[in-house]
Amino acid sequence: MTEHIRSENRDHVLTLTFARPDKKNALTNAMYGTLADAIVAAETDPKTRAIVLRGEGDMFTAGNDVGEFAMMATGQFRGERHVSRFIDALARSTKPMVAAVQGRAVGIGTTMLLHCDFVVLAENALLSTPFVGLALVPEAASSLLLPLRIGYARAYEMFALGETLDARAALATGVANRVVPLDRLHAEAAAVAAKLAKQPAGSLAATKRLMRNAETLLAQMGAESKIFAERLTTSEAREAFTAFAEKRPPDFMKLAS
Ligand code: COA
Repeated sequence: MTEHIRSENRDHVLTLTFARPDKKNALTNAMYGTLADAIVAAETDPKTRAIVLRGEGDMFTAGNDVGEFAMMATGQFRGERHVSRFIDALARSTKPMVAAVQGRAVGIGTTMLLHCDFVVLAENALLSTPFVGLALVPEAASSLLLPLRIGYARAYEMFALGETLDARAALATGVANRVVPLDRLHAEAAAVAAKLAKQPAGSLAATKRLMRNAETLLAQMGAESKIFAERLTTSEAREAFTAFAEKRPPDFMKLAS
């Protein structure tokens, strides 16, 4: 449990809030652990008929905590990596999952949206997956799901060059269901979740299973995770994390290839 995830179950809707606004809701190992536990528990909890993911403050989430990436890169990080359990839980969940996104959704902030069933964006939402800029590779099966959703050309630009997808483009390309003014974001997501909670739960779960092949997603995640872990320890990744800590752009050209 961490205070950086708030969990509330009301009227059969479980709302999970990233609550670390001073760090732009950057996700730590502890936060992934709490999220994973909550989603796994919700799967068998009849009191949860829909799940909402949201972030406190001015953005959804700035993605994985880059400081923790740096610790993993230098071998200072010990213990279980809960991110794997989190993305595994996302892939396996059969409960309707709604996301409410304001401001930036970086890295896993965007890739988790590809596992949500209903994505509501505020007009100022900006999605990005800058894995290559951090000398990493896509995760959470996004190397499969993002090209499928928005086409290879755009997906490559997002991965390789860190190009962003704004709210209108996300709606047009089928990443999102709705774009609403910022002040209506959470009410809209709550209304969608309430509506889903009233639908027959068994039928919703079966429909989701038919629409999403969890085994395919898990296999892709396995392949990605292996390469991701290798990439974390490269000199390219060290340069990327050091540059972030020093608040300067990375210089990959100085490194031997
Ligand atoms: N990991 C750890 N800390 C992060 C973070 C992250 N992913 N994103 C933001 N923070 C921290 C900043 O270091 C800063 O901390 P400080 O106040 O102690 O210096 C604080 O959150 C505020 O961030 P700041 O960069 O000042 O906010 P911004 O509004 O100017 O920019 C972002 C927001 C998201 C554009 C920028 O923070 C960013 O690019 N973050 C990194 C995103 C990233 O690469 N994530 C991993 C993807 S795989």
